[in-house]
Amino acid sequence: MTLHETAAPAAASAYQKSVAEYWNQEKNPVNLRLGAVDGFYHHHYGIGEVDWSVLEGPEETREERIVAELHRLECAQADLLVDHLGPLGPGDRVLDSGCGRGGSSFLVHERTGCQVDGISISERQVAFANEQAEQRGVTGKVQFHLKNMLDTGFETGGFQAIWNNESTMYVDLSVLFPEYARLLKRGGRYVTITGCYNNAYGLPSRAVSEINAHYICDIHSRSSYFKEMSANRLVPVSVVDLTRDTIPYWELRARSPLATGIEDAFLTAYKDGSFQYLLIAADLV
Ligand SMILES: C[S@@+](CC[C@H](N)C(=O)[O-])C[C@H]1O[C@@H](n2cnc3c(N)ncnc32)[C@H](O)[C@@H]1O
Repeated sequence: MTLHETAAPAAASAYQKSVAEYWNQEKNPVNLRLGAVDGFYHHHYGIGEVDWSVLEGPEETREERIVAELHRLECAQADLLVDHLGPLGPGDRVLDSGCGRGGSSFLVHERTGCQVDGISISERQVAFANEQAEQRGVTGKVQFHLKNMLDTGFETGGFQAIWNNESTMYVDLSVLFPEYARLLKRGGRYVTITGCYNNAYGLPSRAVSEINAHYICDIHSRSSYFKEMSANRLVPVSVVDLTRDTIPYWELRARSPLATGIEDAFLTAYKDGSFQYLLIAADLV
């Protein structure tokens, strides 16, 4: 797909156009340099213990070691998400909703052999990911589309699993989950990994608001996920609080030359309890 081969406008509102523009322009080394390590391009954060020895050793190769370590932690996050998708095989079709440059889609296909459709509101991301599919020789098995997750146009009941890896903060959940209830097969699995603000803290803190402004997004409350899922036949089967597991990633990133300037806001928000990093898996009943 080229930049000009767009069928219907995926970005339906002025807000969505601004989000599409952000991702069309995005070329952060923290995403591109990490993706170049092994060809899995992620636009999400990492989890797990940091190997702090990457900061030691020869100065000339220090940056390279940090890049590889941050990438390892981001891959661990994607692996955990895939672990929660349930049993999948070559006969299944799954949806990577808000797919970025396609890293999680390729991982799922590699691990399960299933057919993957990835969708993004950014035409440049879609073009990049489809090129990757071609290079990997999986065109037809892993395909990317310029589509809006709130109105995908895919057929009803066609998907065994759907996931959002850090992309629900760009949409209204009360519009998103009815679409997933339509797209999923009965008994199908939905998984999200997302930052959310903590209702027990109150409303969004200053640091959470800074993150919203930085990414042009609207971080939802923890409670809104469960409210909107239960209103749409999505019954949680696992809820994993990854907040403590993601802090080391942010500490390494803050000390790396690839820092983008938002690191302190994430660390403050996680540490003052106003923000949580959650995995939620649910079944459509
Ligand atoms: C933070 S990135 C996450 C990308 C990917 N899930 C990953 O883990 O690498 C957010 C993604 O959501 C997509 N997005 C935002 N709003 C969308 C919408 N309404 N429909 C489809 N994609 C959307 C963006 O284009 C971007 O690809």
